[in-house]
Amino acid sequence: MCALQYLRPDLLHLKPYDAVPTPAADKLDANEFPLDWPEGFKQKLSLLWEKGIPSNRYPDAQHRGLKQAIAAYAGADPDQISLGNGSDELIRSLLIATCVGGRGGILVAEPTFSMYAILAQSLGIPVVRVPRHAETFALDLERCQQAVVEQRVRVVCLVDPNSPTGNGLSIAEWAWVEGLPAEILVILDEAYFEFSQHTALPKLAEHPNWVILRTFSKAFRLAAHRVGYAIGHPQLVRVLDAIRLPYNLSAISQWAVQIALEHAEEFLADLPLIRQEREALYQALQELPGVRVWPSQANFLYFRVAGWDPQDLQRAWQELGTCVRCTGGGLRLTVGTPAENRRALERLRQLLP
Ligand SMILES: Cc1ncc(COP(=O)(O)O)c(C=O)c1O
Repeated sequence: MCALQYLRPDLLHLKPYDAVPTPAADKLDANEFPLDWPEGFKQKLSLLWEKGIPSNRYPDAQHRGLKQAIAAYAGADPDQISLGNGSDELIRSLLIATCVGGRGGILVAEPTFSMYAILAQSLGIPVVRVPRHAETFALDLERCQQAVVEQRVRVVCLVDPNSPTGNGLSIAEWAWVEGLPAEILVILDEAYFEFSQHTALPKLAEHPNWVILRTFSKAFRLAAHRVGYAIGHPQLVRVLDAIRLPYNLSAISQWAVQIALEHAEEFLADLPLIRQEREALYQALQELPGVRVWPSQANFLYFRVAGWDPQDLQRAWQELGTCVRCTGGGLRLTVGTPAENRRALERLRQLLP
């Protein structure tokens, strides 16, 4: 390929995040929530359309109303909250705020959410990759500690529960995180908090070097609206707000989230169904020949099948109508509706003799 000479050479090999649009298939590849919005929320949102949002005006650049609403939902202060166009945007802002300009790299424990490494690379930030334990996907704490000491790590990126593997941080892992020095930022990505019900929030005040990331794309079913939030030290929040694009959230997205929070109870009332379906899928997968599936605290399951290349299995499964994600040498299956889950299993049974 002929390189355009004005481009940074280190960007030429980067590939865009490969989210595959597969409208014909059961879409169980992106950890979205499978159910429709609660009726009351839908009605209020359509009323908003009818009344009309003044589209000739810019949206609230400071996200005042939304910060208040999120702070009340999360149990934090509004000045601890920064909002992003999806939590993806916040990941990028956090890396800009810490590492850009040769100030150090990020540590990721793989397999994990790939955007951390992709965004770091796009900013010219070194990525230190430490493999997780092959059997349990726990952090290899010795190697993580060694990396922190020897490789100028400035940000430790942890997803809890981790995607794609579904495991939450253990007591030993928390002890390591708590011992990290104040000059290292720890990103605690709680994208799946509503499913796991575990959060670092009660300990945040003791650790000004921790920041929590959450999203409205999962349990709140607003992935198309692109709203994520960070909870952190007010000084960090001020920097995040200063370096982002001024109008990073559309007016309709801000309203959608605010109204969703008014209906939080109804949204969250569907979580037990997803957990129940996850456990049923886990049991069913365990019974299939050659399948090794790991327990999960989120809305997805990670598994591998002996004798199958995961990419081949993904393709074959998709041809039958179920789309899953192939990552980290295994497959990640999002918990769908009961009908989607039943079809996923029926199709998989056809493929595994
Ligand atoms: C762990 C994790 N963090 C962040 C995100 C991005 O979420 P958002 O839609 O808010 O950008 C995802 C999306 O799948 C995720 O799995």
